[in-house]
Amino acid sequence: MSTTTATSHNEQKITAASVRARKGAPAAAGGKLAALTAYDVVFARLADASGVDIVLVGDSLGMMVQGHANTLPVTLDEVVYHTKAVVRGVRHAHVVADLPFMSYQASVEDGMRAAGRLLQEGGAEAVKIEGGAEVVPLVARLSSFGIPVMGHVGMTPQWVHQYGGFRVQGRAQEAHDRILEGARALADAGAYAMVVESVPESLGAEITSALSIPTIGIGAGAACDGQILVMHDVLGLDPDWKPRFARRYAQLGQAARAAFSAYVADVREGSFPAAEETFK
Ligand code: KIV
Repeated sequence: MSTTTATSHNEQKITAASVRARKGAPAAAGGKLAALTAYDVVFARLADASGVDIVLVGDSLGMMVQGHANTLPVTLDEVVYHTKAVVRGVRHAHVVADLPFMSYQASVEDGMRAAGRLLQEGGAEAVKIEGGAEVVPLVARLSSFGIPVMGHVGMTPQWVHQYGGFRVQGRAQEAHDRILEGARALADAGAYAMVVESVPESLGAEITSALSIPTIGIGAGAACDGQILVMHDVLGLDPDWKPRFARRYAQLGQAARAAFSAYVADVREGSFPAAEETFK
């Protein structure tokens, strides 16, 4: 059975099934999964054109787009809104949307309805859920109704207040065992892929070899079956912010600041607009 579907542009659309099939894939079968976050149509289009496999509409939008200190203020309506925009820019990549804080914690029914909205209204092809054993009943229910679920274990940002900050998790034996067991239980419940965030590389490797579904690491070492980064970190959009686990591939923050300054100077001195930028 083919794990991809042809789009109207005759490109191969990446699906939850084709992501799952990339577990340990050699280069000839696609190799490691590359994933990025996106929150709007322009950057989603650029990411898609780069050949990225997965575009995540992460609740990190609360920090990257809205300027909050963490992801907790993000609402389901806001993720639906950003997902709609991202979906319009993507033809090839697999689009996943985050279930935000308190859209699934109170009951399985809440989580089912929230996930339904992300697919039905937002146009996402899968949902991502933070948590371990405590979200297994929801993951099982969603999977049984054909809603693909990407798990998210390790440092789960919606737990930020309990952690006392965005800190590496799984160094202590109890946390190590809990995270590993949670990952196993999520995979058994039907998750098709697993984000593993901010854990020691040995735990990232252990989870990767324990699961038959791909792991997608962020600050979880090189053994994972793929990597995900927040787009703003990759592009260097905030010149003052670079987490240790991220790599900057551009300095767009500096470039944007320089462009805006040049525009302001041109307006002030009267050199913009010029004749060719003016209607006759
Ligand atoms: O919200 C997000 O962007 C995420 C990724 C960092 C994995 O969860």
